[in-house]
Amino acid sequence: MIHTPYFEIRKDALDKNIEDLTEALKSEWGKSIFSYSVKTNSLPWLLRHLREFDAWAEVVSSDEYRLARLMGYPQSRIVFNGPVKGRDDFLDALRNGAVINIDSEREIRWLEEETFSTPRTVGLRVNFSVEDCCPGDIGWEKDGTRFGFSYENGALKKAVERINRISNIRVGGLHMHVSNPKRGVNVYRTLAAMAARIIREYQIEAEYVDIGGSFFGGVPGKTTFVEYISAIREELESTVDPQRTALIVEPGSAIIASPVDFVTSVIDVKNTAKSRMVTVDGSRCNIDPLLLKQNYLLDLVSEGKTYPGKQIVCGFTCMDKDRILEICDMPELHEGDRLVFHRVGAYTMQMNPLFISFFPAVYVRDGELKCVRPAWTAEDFVNERPNK
Ligand SMILES: Cc1ncc(COP(=O)(O)O)c(C=O)c1O
Repeated sequence: MIHTPYFEIRKDALDKNIEDLTEALKSEWGKSIFSYSVKTNSLPWLLRHLREFDAWAEVVSSDEYRLARLMGYPQSRIVFNGPVKGRDDFLDALRNGAVINIDSEREIRWLEEETFSTPRTVGLRVNFSVEDCCPGDIGWEKDGTRFGFSYENGALKKAVERINRISNIRVGGLHMHVSNPKRGVNVYRTLAAMAARIIREYQIEAEYVDIGGSFFGGVPGKTTFVEYISAIREELESTVDPQRTALIVEPGSAIIASPVDFVTSVIDVKNTAKSRMVTVDGSRCNIDPLLLKQNYLLDLVSEGKTYPGKQIVCGFTCMDKDRILEICDMPELHEGDRLVFHRVGAYTMQMNPLFISFFPAVYVRDGELKCVRPAWTAEDFVNERPNK
């Protein structure tokens, strides 16, 4: 038996998600780019694996940009987003053919301070009150979302005009991503309709519309890639030609959430005056680093008889708050029993803290189980490098 705790990636389910997405893009659009959201899970094995499917990398920091380069993504297959790009990497990406979506004034300033000997296209991240158009879907109703240039107050228009005045630089793309927690199709219709409106109003010759990420993938009964992309097409096709304007999608969760399990073992069970406490060798930090989840898809591997009452499953950290979940009328857990949490591949592995225990191992199931990241040891943590 493999030593717990560990993550397990089911390769067949992962590949199915990728294939479903690429098929949907092919059948419902024309020219398209699948750019995987590196932040969602930046496991090196995964980044290398995605390259075999011709995926691009969507990155939002210099560290992610350099990681993508290290994993073999040329600049011409990188989408560089977000407000915290480093100047040197921003310019390196732009000069070497990456898709760059400008998110801040300082990036416009960088463009103005440089000279470009050949024509380059950039995109702009759009900010508008999407939360008012889709009540209850996005959140942030009171203060609005934080990224991009505001369409409503004229900042977006000014940014387009300012960039188009720079020699050899023009705006040729729009970046529409919003975090869409319910992942409903209506939000994509709204984003696509707004992109179409801006393209018409500002007469943008659009090389691409980047609709962002936040889709469902691989979850039975939820919206499919075909449904998302066909809804986007319906809103955009009277404004842009799907054979000439690329649709960029940046999914992360839709690709890697559903194929990943986290396996942990019971290491101690005790009754206190008030409760029955079960301690496992994984932590809530491993599968819910922001401590937000209310429930989990879970299998118990236990031969215990049904326990008539509540058992509180707690993680290995020394925080009393590290309570993963409460189970009622479930098998009585004993030392050595295993708990398998499903669909936990997004915003988990790369957000694990180095707190008390270091990173758990990651395995890929491809017929047999293969280790793609051994559990970190104290030696990995120390990682002493010779002085430069
Ligand atoms: C700009 C951008 N693109 C794509 C994504 C991926 O979202 P998801 O993992 O929900 O698909 C995010 C996530 O926050 C993002 O900020």
